[in-house]
Amino acid sequence: MQLYSVSQLLKQENKLPEVEVKGWVRTFRANRFIALNDGSTLNNIQCVVDFESTDEALLKRITTGAALHIKGELVESQGKGQNVEILVSTIEVLGDSDPEEYPIQPKKHSFEFLRENAHLRTRTNTFSAVMRLRSTLSYAIHKYFNDNGFYYMHTPIITGSDAEGAGEMFKVTKLDAKNPPLDDNGNVDYSKDFFGKETNLTVSGQLEAETYAMSLGKVYTFGPTFRAENSNTSRHLSEFWMIEPEVAFMDLPGNMDLAEDFLKYVLNYILENNRDDLDFLEQRLINEEKTKPQAERSDMSLIEKLKFVIDNNFKRVSYTEAIDILRNSKPNKKKKFKFPISDWGADLQSEHERFLVEKHFKCPVILFDYPANIKAFYMRLNEDGKTVRAMDILFPGIGEMVGGSQREERLEVLKEKMAALDIPEEELWWYLDLRKYGTAVHSGFGLGFERLVMFVTGMTNIRDVIPYPRTPQNAEF
Ligand code: 4AD
Ligand code: MG
Repeated sequence: MQLYSVSQLLKQENKLPEVEVKGWVRTFRANRFIALNDGSTLNNIQCVVDFESTDEALLKRITTGAALHIKGELVESQGKGQNVEILVSTIEVLGDSDPEEYPIQPKKHSFEFLRENAHLRTRTNTFSAVMRLRSTLSYAIHKYFNDNGFYYMHTPIITGSDAEGAGEMFKVTKLDAKNPPLDDNGNVDYSKDFFGKETNLTVSGQLEAETYAMSLGKVYTFGPTFRAENSNTSRHLSEFWMIEPEVAFMDLPGNMDLAEDFLKYVLNYILENNRDDLDFLEQRLINEEKTKPQAERSDMSLIEKLKFVIDNNFKRVSYTEAIDILRNSKPNKKKKFKFPISDWGADLQSEHERFLVEKHFKCPVILFDYPANIKAFYMRLNEDGKTVRAMDILFPGIGEMVGGSQREERLEVLKEKMAALDIPEEELWWYLDLRKYGTAVHSGFGLGFERLVMFVTGMTNIRDVIPYPRTPQNAEF
């Protein structure tokens, strides 16, 4: 006897007299057909029970959710829907599942309900498909960078610096919240804290990645990042995973080329290596859209959307051009935007980004050269003195997928920027050192991993593409 995974069994061409498999019951029909799933594939193996020769007490324990160890013969299937099935010789119930109480019944559940049961939701087709795709995607990301000469770098999770300068960080402290030590001015004295200074969970590994790019050349980080912003939207998490490549001697156009090539590679990898799960999610979306009015249905299926991104160049547009397009757009003239486009210099709202991507260009868009005052301190100032070498990549249905830039490599300009924003030089002395010793043009970007998973799976709420979402007022599991 040999233990097989369901995925291995379904690929068998020949009959096998003795096989073993372990998994969980999805359904048990007519006291005869067990659909068994073990997570190795979207598909179940059908196990046919001879109920006449099986103990009735045992049959009663074959319920949805129960864990079974099955032995039998793998044969060509008589029924349709599968090529092979197991004629069961013995069943051992490894773990019972009370059908009255088991939350995941064999019927359609709402995503809200499944979020409350996130520890069991990967026992459904939709969530097992999403999470397998998530896993394949992260492998593809590592593969891309590894194949292209990048080193994987582990940037710290606890940090003393605020990379994005937005101040929306989670504090890491061992001080007694009720009775913290105070300094002479009555402020909390963090020199008495665990690290002897104020520390936070990181919002980005970029600044540390820059240090390695300036010695190892091409590096990337792929790790968790944390943001304490109070945005309860379908695209924001308080804890999310970010991929951040950083490359020495690369300018902004090079950065755009890298991001575009990288995104196309990972999407293509998914198409070639995870077709079952994609096909299932595509069909799920088609069914969901049938319930919507014609006007709200998308004109491309999930797989068509992926292929469209792979086959077409991303549109590269400067912020200034984008503002012109938006100012002259129908929704702006008809006052349909909640935030009307007025002056050059304001940040774009997601309604504006969506208009550009979904209505105007109808493809991924790389916006670049943003006004300096709406972007982070480390971005390279352009010769015009008012824009920076920033780029955001916007995707249909998602909005901002990537944020990146060419970094300010000139010591004096960087110091001036920091002074203007009250960022103390003592805090980032090591970052400034990079500009003192062998400074060079360098660039990088950050890709929000969950937003990529949303695009690939067609899921519309970011809480449904990460195992245990952390959002304001929510850290269950
Ligand atoms: O644009 P952001 O803030 O850029 C940075 O952090 C840079 N340091 C990256 C770099 O240049 N190395 O974040 C990058 C991406 C966004 O484009 C978005 O996809 C994602 O991270 N992101 C979030 N994803 C989920 N939840 C949130 N709260 C997110 N905030 C940003
Ligand atoms: Mg951004």
